[in-house]
Amino acid sequence: MKVIKIAAEMQQIALKHVKAGDEIGLVPTMGALHDGHISLIDKSGKNDDITIVSIFVNPTQFGPNEDYLKYPRPIDKDLKICKKHHVDYVFLPSVAEMFSDTHKTFVEVSQMQDILCGAFRKGHFRGVATVVAKLFNISRADRAYFGLKDFQQLKIIEKMAKDLNFTTKIVACPTIREKSALALSSRNSYLNAAQKVNAGLISQILKEAKENFKTKPLKTVLGIALKKLKSIPESKIDYAEIVDFYDLSPASSKTKKAAFLAAVWVGKTRLIDNMAMNK
Ligand code: PAJ
Repeated sequence: MKVIKIAAEMQQIALKHVKAGDEIGLVPTMGALHDGHISLIDKSGKNDDITIVSIFVNPTQFGPNEDYLKYPRPIDKDLKICKKHHVDYVFLPSVAEMFSDTHKTFVEVSQMQDILCGAFRKGHFRGVATVVAKLFNISRADRAYFGLKDFQQLKIIEKMAKDLNFTTKIVACPTIREKSALALSSRNSYLNAAQKVNAGLISQILKEAKENFKTKPLKTVLGIALKKLKSIPESKIDYAEIVDFYDLSPASSKTKKAAFLAAVWVGKTRLIDNMAMNK
């Protein structure tokens, strides 16, 4: 396994592999790797000749009052995990390498970037789309792996790849959860033991909504879930919405395939989760 810190070098290596006929898989991450990330890495290991994992805590996707400085960066542990899971290259750039002082180009996926999480985290998805576009070009990836855990992010990246004619295929991977059903997240490390138990209720409430969606009107499904989310100790809801599964537009009574997306604070930790729902 090689650790590459320079974008041009990573690109040259990738190009060599492309010329040799290797198929490249990219797993973009911000590090603090857990079983969710590992499931993506293992999937690339199965599908691709070469697996590149990028580890970059991207400052352009954090708001001024967010946890950029506090975000966990256990790099030695992360590299060990990558090695154990047969990663070929870890791309580990500095902030200056990815975003020099003269950087001027940003990618925006209009409308989709402004709703749900985007309404609460201004500029977040612009930062995500920009860094992912750069990573696609640097890695020359045939396939890139993203978790359904970050449902809006996944949909935005799929749209960006389509609209900008990227040849990289986006592979959506299922959400990995703790026994309590809490979706694994690097931010779970901010939770204390009691908060962790309470946070597990979020996905249980979404699961119930999934059942209710089959038979009950949309408003009722949402009403029941909202009441329960509000009753989680120390919780504050940023949003809880049922949207069209494919394009994130508001769901209607005619929507057959939907997704329930929620962002809930438990204490000082903001957690997101979602559940696909079918009529
Ligand atoms: P990060 O939060 O590190 O997540 C990296 C990838 O792992 C994302 O595709 C995310 O959806 C996936 N992931 C996280 N938790 C998961 C879980 N419990 N189960 C399955 N997959 C999970 O998302 C980002 O980084 C950044 O925004 C990034 C795309 C790297 C751009 O900076």
